[in-house]
Amino acid sequence: MTFDRSIKIAPSILAADFANFGAECAAVEKQGADWVHVDVMDGHFVPNITFGPATCAAIRPHIAGVMDVHLMIAPADPYLEGFAKAGADILTVHAEAGPHLHRSLQMVRNLGCRAGVALNPATPASAVEYVLDRIDLICVMTVNPGFGGQSFIDSQIEKVRQLRAMIGDRPIHIEIDGGMTPDTAPLMAAAGADVLVAGSAVFKGGSVTNPAPYGENIRAIRDAAEKATGVLV
Ligand code: DX5
Ligand code: ZN
Repeated sequence: MTFDRSIKIAPSILAADFANFGAECAAVEKQGADWVHVDVMDGHFVPNITFGPATCAAIRPHIAGVMDVHLMIAPADPYLEGFAKAGADILTVHAEAGPHLHRSLQMVRNLGCRAGVALNPATPASAVEYVLDRIDLICVMTVNPGFGGQSFIDSQIEKVRQLRAMIGDRPIHIEIDGGMTPDTAPLMAAAGADVLVAGSAVFKGGSVTNPAPYGENIRAIRDAAEKATGVLV
């Protein structure tokens, strides 16, 4: 993986057909997705359950590019090795998931993955201030984690501005997760985000047998975000 701050669209397979993950991943990549975002939920840290390392390993061969695994699980540490072995490129843990974030990040990098930290809407930017040298990505949750299709929480725009200033020249991605649409994506791109996760807004209207809407949806989000960063102006 190389680093740059261009806008990247990461469809969340939480909104895909769960009986068809492999084909769904291949379809969104073919339709222009930059990364594939994989949401792991445990029914404890968040009030929903998705799947674990075995499913991630099964999905992996169907993703040609970056597999971005978002762990909404607590504790995370006992399972990090399993998700690394499943082929995650990026492993993101929540700052709120345990008392030893620094240790979790050390483990993720020692396992050979890029390390991400996700922040719930109520968690301040300062939660990552003393681990900036250990992370490759900060995931700002713009909904309360657990479900797709929720409304964007606009108080997070200011948090992204603060994080962007805090990061400076460090090669750390700012990823936004939740409620991303062509209307909300530009707000976050303008504030300093470069990775936009979108579930319902990417998968709506399409299917593996009719994937063209995925491409239209991805382009609409990307174009709106790039305009806000000046790329297309
Ligand atoms: C929420 C997940 C998100 C979710 C986003 O807990 O982490 O990745 O799939 O879904 P949308 O884009 O529908 O808000
Ligand atoms: Zn997510």
